[in-house]
Amino acid sequence: MTFDRSIKIAPSILSADFADFGREIQAIEAHGADWVHVDVMDGHFVPNITFGPPAVAAFRSHVRTFMDVHLMIAPVDPYIDAFAEAGSDMITAHVEAGAHIHRTLQAIRAAGCKAGVALNPGTPAAAVENLLDLADMVLVMTVNPGFGGQKFIDMTAKISAIRAMIGDRPIHIQVDGGVTPETSPLVARAGADVLVAGSAVFKGGSVGDPAPYGANIRAIRAAAQAA
Ligand code: DX5
Ligand code: ZN
Repeated sequence: MTFDRSIKIAPSILSADFADFGREIQAIEAHGADWVHVDVMDGHFVPNITFGPPAVAAFRSHVRTFMDVHLMIAPVDPYIDAFAEAGSDMITAHVEAGAHIHRTLQAIRAAGCKAGVALNPGTPAAAVENLLDLADMVLVMTVNPGFGGQKFIDMTAKISAIRAMIGDRPIHIQVDGGVTPETSPLVARAGADVLVAGSAVFKGGSVGDPAPYGANIRAIRAAAQAA
């Protein structure tokens, strides 16, 4: 996939029907999703448990776009190969998840995936400064990770600082948490290009009636593009 800074919408299937992931993935892609965002939680790094590598491999068989796997687990390193083999296009790990994020990013690339590095709201921009040569994306969390549907935390100053640090390097900035048509312009203006949204994409729709997914994706994208 060629690099560009156009706005990309990555619906989080954390807000999908857990009994029907295959059709949910097909529905969001048919209705304008650019990437599919997969939230992996371990009940240890974050206070919630979602899915492991076999489930992610099953999602893969439905994803036609780009499978973006956000690991909220600690430790990370013992599971990188399994998530790579599950078909992840990008694997994102948190700087807070262990002492050796630099090694983790090297291992993600060595496994053949794009590498993302994530920052919780309490972690400063400077935490990624020495990692940019190993990163294809920086994920700025705008909620404390663990659950969908939380209130947006304003991280625009951090996004702008990271955007300046990146310069003309081909590194995406992703924002995750509380993204809606109201908040997407703020993060886009600050320099984010990949917008994750769970509840704001899936609200009002279902696999039986997926048209609202399309309207929701278009509303988030249009507001960000107008920023
Ligand atoms: C939070 C997850 C997010 C979450 C976003 O821990 O990483 O991807 O699903 O959900 P919304 O868009 O509902 O805040
Ligand atoms: Zn996420």
